[in-house]
Amino acid sequence: MNILITGGAGLIGSNLLKRIIKNNNNYNIILADNLWRGKLENINDIKNTNFNIEKNFYELDLSVYENCLKITKDIDHVIHLADVVAGINYVFQNEFSLFQLNLNINSNILRASIFNKVKKITYVGTACSYPLEKQSNLNIIPLKEEDVYPANPESSYGWSKLIGEYEISLASKYGLINSSILRLHNVYGPPSELSEKKSQVIPALCRKLILNEEYIIWGSGKQRRSFVYIDDVIDALIKSMKIEEGHEVVQIGPRESISIEEIANKLLMLSKKNIKPTFDTTKPEGDFDRVPDISKAEKILNWKPKINIDDGLKETYKWAKSQLLK
Ligand SMILES: NC(=O)c1ccc[n+]([C@@H]2O[C@H](COP(=O)([O-])OP(=O)(O)OC[C@H]3O[C@@H](n4cnc5c(N)ncnc54)[C@H](O)[C@@H]3O)[C@@H](O)[C@H]2O)c1
Repeated sequence: MNILITGGAGLIGSNLLKRIIKNNNNYNIILADNLWRGKLENINDIKNTNFNIEKNFYELDLSVYENCLKITKDIDHVIHLADVVAGINYVFQNEFSLFQLNLNINSNILRASIFNKVKKITYVGTACSYPLEKQSNLNIIPLKEEDVYPANPESSYGWSKLIGEYEISLASKYGLINSSILRLHNVYGPPSELSEKKSQVIPALCRKLILNEEYIIWGSGKQRRSFVYIDDVIDALIKSMKIEEGHEVVQIGPRESISIEEIANKLLMLSKKNIKPTFDTTKPEGDFDRVPDISKAEKILNWKPKINIDDGLKETYKWAKSQLLK
């Protein structure tokens, strides 16, 4: 089977590639990424396998249709992970360009996959697509998949990802391609983006601690997220890939949320540094709280998260230190 992983040099893509290789599946895997946030060093430690960077990796901008057409030729299954993803500051400062890019990437890869008669496409949506009003209080009701409508995401990122979901579901409904959609909550773990410009909250806090930057939490710190460790996300993707005919939208994340302040304190403990966080309430903090109802993930994928937040943070902090102090 020929598999294309778009965004394959990123956090989820590089981990998925490694897991598929580890599982010894006899797949021919192609990766496409423009390296906007992905890095070759995330995949260049793969040795002695069928996967070879020179042969199997393509540096391509997938917002361009011709590139999508070229890369989906002879592919059986597209795992579509490429999109512009970044921390909250980047997202709110680049709402228009990010929206247009993601719309183009998602629509072009789908259109090219249909043209090239790809059998199945797997897409990952985001919990950022849920309506603002359903995540603006503490201890909100766990979100079900259908709660994403009527749509009112807070950011253009949430909109772009939701429109991607909608377009793929539509193609599937009219028999143009099989599809599976996983709607992910906040993913963290190695190897993630650590730069000030593009990092998400957990790697950003790790960097501030490790490089002795001011330990600033954006917003009140009371905002909460359901953080899901990368290995659990890969488990879900592998289970989903096995369902050839595809499946409807399934949320992936832990049932409990945790505040950013609690995360910051846990990382501070790991660092053993004797400092206190400060809060910058001029910075955006995003939605207030959201947790998934994962009964569909349990039923359709037999999935639930296995890695608790303390273990996940420990691994992530250790990895960030190895990168930033090398
Ligand atoms: N990280 C999260 O918290 C999270 C949560 C929900 C959903 N997701 C989704 O998961 C997918 C993978 O995200 P990730 O966390 O691995 O982030 P990531 O940034 O590590 O991966 C995305 C990859 O897409 C690539 N990319 C961006 N624009 C591109 C373009 N024009 N052409 C080709 N490649 C391009 C980037 O270089 C990057 O390697 C994304 O679709 C994202 O929306 C992520």
